[in-house]
Amino acid sequence: DCPASVRKQLGKLFAESLKVTVPSEPDVVPLIDACVAKNGVKHADYQCNNAMSLFAKIKGKQTEFKNPRSLGEGIMKNLPPSEMIESCSVAGPGFVNIVLSKKWIAQSVQQVLTDGIDSWAPRLPVKRVMVDFSSPNIAKEMHVGHLRSTIIGDTLARMLEYCKAESLIRRNHIGDWGTQFGMLIAFLFEKFPNPEEVKESDIGDLQAFYKASKLRFDSDPDFKLNAQQSVVKLQGGDPKYLTAWQQICEISRTEFNKVYQRLGVHLEEMAESFFNPLIPPTLEKLEKLGLIEDSEGARVIFVEGVDIPLIAVKRDGGFNYFTTDLASLWYRLNVEKLDWNIYVTDVGQAQHFDMLFKAFKRAGWLPKDSNEYPKCTHVGFGLVLGDDGKRFRTRSSEVVRLVDLLDEAKRRCKVALLERDNAKEWTEKEIEKTSEAIGYGAVKYADLKINRLTNYTFNFDQMLNDKGNTAVYLLYAHARICSIIRKSGKDIEELKKNGNLVLDHEDERTLGLHLLQFTEVFVESCANLLPNVLCEYLYNLSEIFTKKFYSNCQVVGSPEETSRLLLCEATLVVMRHCFYLLGIEPVYKL
Ligand code: ARG
Repeated sequence: DCPASVRKQLGKLFAESLKVTVPSEPDVVPLIDACVAKNGVKHADYQCNNAMSLFAKIKGKQTEFKNPRSLGEGIMKNLPPSEMIESCSVAGPGFVNIVLSKKWIAQSVQQVLTDGIDSWAPRLPVKRVMVDFSSPNIAKEMHVGHLRSTIIGDTLARMLEYCKAESLIRRNHIGDWGTQFGMLIAFLFEKFPNPEEVKESDIGDLQAFYKASKLRFDSDPDFKLNAQQSVVKLQGGDPKYLTAWQQICEISRTEFNKVYQRLGVHLEEMAESFFNPLIPPTLEKLEKLGLIEDSEGARVIFVEGVDIPLIAVKRDGGFNYFTTDLASLWYRLNVEKLDWNIYVTDVGQAQHFDMLFKAFKRAGWLPKDSNEYPKCTHVGFGLVLGDDGKRFRTRSSEVVRLVDLLDEAKRRCKVALLERDNAKEWTEKEIEKTSEAIGYGAVKYADLKINRLTNYTFNFDQMLNDKGNTAVYLLYAHARICSIIRKSGKDIEELKKNGNLVLDHEDERTLGLHLLQFTEVFVESCANLLPNVLCEYLYNLSEIFTKKFYSNCQVVGSPEETSRLLLCEATLVVMRHCFYLLGIEPVYKL
């Protein structure tokens, strides 16, 4: 249920009309769409599109309607009276065009000023949700793919939180277990025979440490053997090896946390190693159900529609990424009792998750119907590319360190800020804070604004451009509106209490309606877990504000000043909420 959605509210009115107009089809769902302007003109705000398909159903039965158009007229005539609607008309083959009342739009926009943006939140039937995102691997590369997962996952978590999910867990399923640790520990012991004395600074850059040990591993058979024995010792729980493992994990964590801190992302860690003890009992349950079979010495599970099986136990008796996911999903469903598990990774893992979910369905641990709860969803995303169209790498073709990337974004923003005419008016602290907000915001927005399934090209010049669809442009638009209100010298809280919002000018009305459409766009963005839909809305909001409203309607000093200031404030409220959902820190001054 979603009282703030215009579409939903119109849907209710049309449902009533349809019941009366076509009593023989009581289950018809009203089809209501927002109208988009063609060549700059829009004939209506919304359209009801039922008449055509409905007429096909009742043809010959209800003879008072000769054609879809007359059915459209019938639907229009039977609409219950409502203060929402200004006028209706039937167009073409039977579309019912709806023009909303500007008074109603104004009142609804004013309501968000008094009641806050939470009053516009849809209540989606989401109960206990987990978003598994970021989830980098320790001592392997934390690459830009993990940055995408972190950014997209955080936004999805914020969106679901806004829908008042009963509880929401942001889970970092860190890859802290696996054969790479044998190599790292062997290397660590070789370099530091006394591992208790190793400090973080000694290993410093874990990525370099990983590379050096990999080099050793690939070139020296003795070392390789040593590494393999180290894995066995670690898995056997040898305290010396466990300590070394923990040390290495700690260093990685420190590095990950630096990225999370800059991005303002909070995650709750439950790493792969946590699930180790749960693997044997989970496999046992699957064995009992007869799901696991032998295949060339490995223990595997076959699932519907996929030729290759999942490998639950490797030929050497070892477990893999997949085994851990079997145990962790079992835990999530049965111990944490989650209703919805969302996994955010690159699309390359789509098959992995498809098979995982199918295995659970086969076991009867998930309902066969994917829309039923508890449910699992894989949210995939495309690659991050460099300007050359290949995977994003540094010049020396190394993995880009995320911290360096964020530093560079901030540095460039700082340079741009210092070049501004009013740079002298800014304190050191303001410059720091603002360049962080814009720099990190730009990196996030560049990622979120495109459909997550497509690859995206990482380009600083593009994302930091202050024109076009970038965070820089949006943040400046926000700051500019703040300054309009500041310069008016009016107390906006006072105006909110006593002022009246009216939308007489066409561009005021367009802006007001767009504000009011926030909820339905948000619902769409949520339904498909597509943050780019929300980005597009935000960009359009800025465009309508700047190019229409602010270009054509004088605010300060005009007779409509109070109302227009209120409209500015409402725009700020909605913009800021979009920023919040996208994890972007607003900027108040420019
Ligand atoms: N560590 C994995 C990777 O880097 C992502 C883990 C996603 N979560 C999961 N439960 N499998 O690709």
